[in-house]
Amino acid sequence: MIYAEILAGGKGTRMGNTEMPKQFLLLGNKPIFIHTVEQFLLNRRVDKILICCPEQWMAYTRDTLKKYHADMERVFVVKGGTTRNETILNGCTFIEKNFGLNNDDIILTHDAVRPFINQRIIDDNIDGTLKYGAVDTVVEAFDTIVRSADGEVITDIPVRSEMYQGQTPQSFNIKLLMSFFDSLTNEEKEILTDACKALVIKGNDVHLIKGEVYNMKITTQHDLKVANGLVEGDK
Ligand code: CTP
Repeated sequence: MIYAEILAGGKGTRMGNTEMPKQFLLLGNKPIFIHTVEQFLLNRRVDKILICCPEQWMAYTRDTLKKYHADMERVFVVKGGTTRNETILNGCTFIEKNFGLNNDDIILTHDAVRPFINQRIIDDNIDGTLKYGAVDTVVEAFDTIVRSADGEVITDIPVRSEMYQGQTPQSFNIKLLMSFFDSLTNEEKEILTDACKALVIKGNDVHLIKGEVYNMKITTQHDLKVANGLVEGDK
């Protein structure tokens, strides 16, 4: 089975004071997360789509999904977690409990607030995960990356041609991911906030999938303005 997990469990604090978490704000004429879900609904290789959101927003998420998509056969609303990794794991546990787990089941975890994902990125994630077990979507770094350990002076300027910026989906064989999370101590879980980083540190290969610059994450009010500009430009 091929699952997509839309990560919508965050609060969106960097968006500032909004009446609802950023994933529910309007982008063009639809909530941000609806644009994202639509891209996964379009892909017929994706068997089931989980939307993981804060518990108090589950009913709203269901109602909003029904409003835009009468056919909810492939879509499930699941409770998110307090951290992004906990949200990812809640989705995997939901799958295990409700559908059972097979050795070749995979999951594409994608930020609800990256609504411009396209079919090519979804297909490459599916193919890469079936082949390698774990993949991360990235774009080449355009700007020079400057590292500073104390925020005052430069520690290092890594070679730009080896630098990439992480996007999503981050996709995994579900059994591999769950057994891996099980092996982490509570302390490691707190530090290793990125699932791919955690796998790499523990010695697992994670292959790269080419993203797109426009597969941007909406984090701030400025990002939302840019995203609305992109939607307007497409009309
Ligand atoms: N996310 C999640 N569960 C969490 C935290 C984040 O599913 N406990 C999701 C967010 O909803 C978002 C994605 O992960 O779609 C990317 O995270 P980020 O942009 O950092 O979202 P927030 O945590 O909501 O934003 P902020 O850090 O500004 O509060």
